[in-house]
Amino acid sequence: MKKVVLAYSGGLDTSVAIKWLKDRGYEVVAYMADVGQEKTTKAAITRAKVAGAAKVVVRDLKLRFATEYIWPALKAGAVYEGRYTLATALSRPIIAAEQVKVAHEERATAVAHGCTGKGNDQVRFEVTTQALDSSLEILAPVREWEFRSREEEIRYAEKHGIPIDVSKKSPFSIDKNIWGVSVEAGVLENPDHEPPREAFQWTRGADERNPKDRVIEIGFEKGVPVWLNGRRKGPLELIAELNTAGAYYGIGRMDMIENRLVGIKSRETYEAPAATILLQAHKDLEALVLDREMLHYKEGIAQKYADLIYYGLWFTPLRKALDAFISETQRNVTGTVRVRLRKYSSHVVGRRSPHSLYRETLATYGSKDTFDQKLSKGFIDLWALPYRK
Ligand code: ARG
Repeated sequence: MKKVVLAYSGGLDTSVAIKWLKDRGYEVVAYMADVGQEKTTKAAITRAKVAGAAKVVVRDLKLRFATEYIWPALKAGAVYEGRYTLATALSRPIIAAEQVKVAHEERATAVAHGCTGKGNDQVRFEVTTQALDSSLEILAPVREWEFRSREEEIRYAEKHGIPIDVSKKSPFSIDKNIWGVSVEAGVLENPDHEPPREAFQWTRGADERNPKDRVIEIGFEKGVPVWLNGRRKGPLELIAELNTAGAYYGIGRMDMIENRLVGIKSRETYEAPAATILLQAHKDLEALVLDREMLHYKEGIAQKYADLIYYGLWFTPLRKALDAFISETQRNVTGTVRVRLRKYSSHVVGRRSPHSLYRETLATYGSKDTFDQKLSKGFIDLWALPYRK
């Protein structure tokens, strides 16, 4: 019997996919990757078994997700189309890479995912699989099966005794991990319709609150945040605390129309409090310690890096090469940034670093000024030389 490792989320689609794959002659290993989505519950594991999985494998990937995927993206300053901080996009390569590992351990010849045929996630899963082991067969049940609606799927599940929790189902499609929440579908499909409060998963309560401002302090070492309010923190603790603090204020909400890789535009809302605050603080610290040429050049790299993540091209030579470049740029990105949190927004209000390139004696308009203003005339005359009439 052929063996397949299915990336199983615990939801309706992948529960039904277990049975569907079994009916097509596969022995199914249900693999659950924990990237902080809070779905690897006992009920989900039981559901997989009832649906017919021969085995359930759960892998906690949270720490590696933070250090090997999120931190590089933060150091790069990766943000897609100016707003999306890439939580979903970053999680796919680590989930798929571990899936390949599980397939090898289980001596499976195939992998399967529950992505639809319209999104970016199918691309991210399959490019990763092919880049790591192109001999694996790739199955995408949701892209192929006969169900035309959610109702048909539910009927199929009921017919085969697969326990599903229909009551709990949200009207939205939600993807969540430690770096953020992505929400689409339902009323959000009308791009002119304001997201209802139920669309927000982490920041919902912020609408009703009127919290007092608060200033937090984040310490970076070589581009990586390691201190929060004077205490040294591990990656997961630091991200979780910033998510909680930021969500309280409603920070990190985005409502955007984005360009998918498959050519269509889609409307999605995101919530990423920690990502928003950290990207902002990190960028500010870079402004203090990087010289102008480096800083400007790196902006282009940030965009390229974001595109690679979004397009599923994590396991590629270019991403690796860019990582080497970005590492080099982060040598001096050590220091402390103070961020003021207020309702729906955060603002950097102070920054300091032992590697600061800011010189008060050069910048000041006061008596301590050491800048020789007379030199500017010659500089400007040569600068203007090519354009003189
Ligand atoms: N549009 C985002 C991306 O391609 C998120 C996709 C998943 N979103 C969701 N709500 N299930 O990265």
